[in-house]
Amino acid sequence: MKALVWMGKKKVEVQTVSDPAILLPRDCIVKITSTAICGSDIHLYDGVIPTLEKGDILGHEFMGEVIEVGKQVKRIKAGDRVVVPFTISCGRCTHCLRQQFSACDNTNPNWHIAETLLGFPSAGMFGYAHMTGGYAGGQAQYARVPHADTGLLKIENDLPDEKVLFLSDIFPTGYMAAENCQIVPGQSVVAVWGCGPVGQFAIRSAFLLGAAKVIAIDSVPERRALAGKAGAITLDSGDDVMEELKALTGGRGPDASIDAVGMEAHGSAYDEFKQALKLETDRPYALRQAMRCTRKAGVVSVPGVYGGFLDKIPFGAAMNKGLTFKMGQTHMQKYMGPLLKLIEDGKIDPSVIITHRLPLSEAPEAYPMFTKKTDGCIKVVLDPAA
Ligand SMILES: NC(=O)c1ccc[n+]([C@@H]2O[C@H](COP(=O)([O-])OP(=O)(O)OC[C@H]3O[C@@H](n4cnc5c(N)ncnc54)[C@H](O)[C@@H]3O)[C@@H](O)[C@H]2O)c1
Ligand SMILES: [Zn+2]
Ligand SMILES: [Zn+2]
Repeated sequence: MKALVWMGKKKVEVQTVSDPAILLPRDCIVKITSTAICGSDIHLYDGVIPTLEKGDILGHEFMGEVIEVGKQVKRIKAGDRVVVPFTISCGRCTHCLRQQFSACDNTNPNWHIAETLLGFPSAGMFGYAHMTGGYAGGQAQYARVPHADTGLLKIENDLPDEKVLFLSDIFPTGYMAAENCQIVPGQSVVAVWGCGPVGQFAIRSAFLLGAAKVIAIDSVPERRALAGKAGAITLDSGDDVMEELKALTGGRGPDASIDAVGMEAHGSAYDEFKQALKLETDRPYALRQAMRCTRKAGVVSVPGVYGGFLDKIPFGAAMNKGLTFKMGQTHMQKYMGPLLKLIEDGKIDPSVIITHRLPLSEAPEAYPMFTKKTDGCIKVVLDPAA
């Protein structure tokens, strides 16, 4: 089959690789009909996430048709149309039973690497380096999906792929980020750093959960414009964000802030310098701003990915203001079903963020375009059959 493989920092190629096979009785094989590039793939492409190896297949936002199931798979059958969550979860461990699916205890075979880096291992994830299991990803024609009965969301309507594909990651991620903000309907003001795909869904989800006002911050005009279409007030990240937020909140600051930027924030020469010299692993510029700008006793919600050790975090501000922090890789399987219902009911159309539809063969050009945000690129959907 054809697949997009990582060959080193800023180097990805479409190669012919072996087809996946059923390895365990709870596996299934999915023939992929649509797949996307995520902001998390940028961190892999840029080489800032450790434990990636040459030849790893990337991609964790995909859907398609089940063509084969293992002996113990009961709920899913060959022929089912499915969306695949990016986290791999067993459905039976203590965490899965508490719906903390991205903390699953049983799906990361490289738990010892993750344990060294994180203290305890996270769940396995598709196409996301060996510290999360080294599973082959979904920017490919086929993928092996472990724990098929737990993970897969069946699509039993005739909605096109592009309306349901983002249930694989970014819609649940934006939604969980907004849910973590403890929004009081009709009252809460939520500030969102980053108007990329995750930020766009965080903004829309905050409104779905009743936010009175959403303020969205980014330097890219077309991304701000898309946030504006969802009803957000927008700010340029180059402006004095603290002063602007104070002016928009009666001097109090937002009730909750969402960092939908993560470890590669722009705007701080200090962080660029330190990361380049490997004196810090991440560039937490947006996170620092969010912590400073959030009102006293407010919430900071962090869907943005961080990989390691962060410098100059204003923890004194967090402690003295009494901030609450909520964060994490998304507990996908908890959200996919309820959010599909919102799409079916016409409450949200996730496809509005798509700017580029390309064949998988053009993924090596799509990566730098999405990373540098050129050609108005906000979200790329790839067709493995084209
Ligand atoms: N928690 C999860 O489960 C999960 C899932 C998917 C993605 N993510 C993470 O969410 C983050 C966003 O993903 P995305 O797909 O939207 O990526 P993206 O790179 O397309 O979007 C990030 C946006 O942040 C903006 N930005 C950069 N610096 C900024 C600053 N200082 N202030 C304000 N905005 C700034 C960029 O211009 C860009 O529009 C990434 O870190 C990604 O890894 C997490
Ligand atoms: Zn993702
Ligand atoms: Zn589990």
